[in-house]
Amino acid sequence: MRLDKYLSDGGMSRSQARDAIARGRVRVDGVVAKGAGSPLPPGAQVTLDGEPVLPRGPLHLMMHKPQGVVTAREDRRLPTVFGLLPEALRVRDLSPVGRLDRDTTGLLLFTTNGQLAHRLISPRFAVEKSYLARVEGPLLPAHIDAMARGLSLSDFTARPAALTILEEDLGRLVIAEGKYHQVKRMFAALGCPVMSLHRERIGPVTLDLALVPGQFRPLAPEEYSALCALTGLEDT
Ligand code: URA
Repeated sequence: MRLDKYLSDGGMSRSQARDAIARGRVRVDGVVAKGAGSPLPPGAQVTLDGEPVLPRGPLHLMMHKPQGVVTAREDRRLPTVFGLLPEALRVRDLSPVGRLDRDTTGLLLFTTNGQLAHRLISPRFAVEKSYLARVEGPLLPAHIDAMARGLSLSDFTARPAALTILEEDLGRLVIAEGKYHQVKRMFAALGCPVMSLHRERIGPVTLDLALVPGQFRPLAPEEYSALCALTGLEDT
C-alpha cells in the first residue's frame, strides 16, 4: 500500500498526509519518509510526530504499564492506561486483557478481538501469567512447595503455581488464573507481603524490554498468531 493511502486510512485526508510527509513528520521503521507514493513494506511501523499510526481493522497492542495508572477507560481521579494511548487509538474498540493493579507494572495487552481477550483471562484456558514479585522476605523452599500444592485463601483455593526464588526477597510466580489481587494474596498468605509487582509474560508473549513504562507497540503478527494458537482461535 502507498504511504499516503495508509495515513489517510488512519484518519487524515490524502492532502494532510502528503503535507505531513513533505514536512518530515512521518517515519517508516524509524526513517523519515521521502515520498507520499512510496510503497510500504508489509508490517512496517509508521509514526507521525513519533506516535504510531496503526492500520484500520483488528488491532492488538502490548503496553508497558507504569505504576500509578489504573486499568480503566476513564477514572474521575486517577490517570488511566487508555489515557496513555493517542486519541486515534482511544476511539477504537480496544479491551485490556485483564487488569493490573494501580501499583503493578509490566505487560498489559489490548485487543479489538473480544473473544481472544476473554479466552486469555478465562480459567478454562488456563493461560500462564508470569510475575516478578519483590516481597518482604525471606522466600524459602517451603514457599515453593506451598505454592505448588495450591493455596487456600479466604474465598477460593488458588490452583498450583510455580514459584522460583531469584533472590532472598524476589520471586517469579507463574499462575494460570487471575482472581482479584491474586498474586498479592498468595504471597501474603505465606507471610511475605508484596512490595512491588511486575508482569513479564502472558502465555507466549513477553514484555518487550525496549518499551519504557508508559510506551506501547502493536503486537507482531507472530505474537498474535501464538496467542490465537494457544486459545484455539483462528488467526484472522
Ligand atoms: N495479582 C495481583 O495481586 N495484582 C496484579 O496487579 C496482578 C495480579
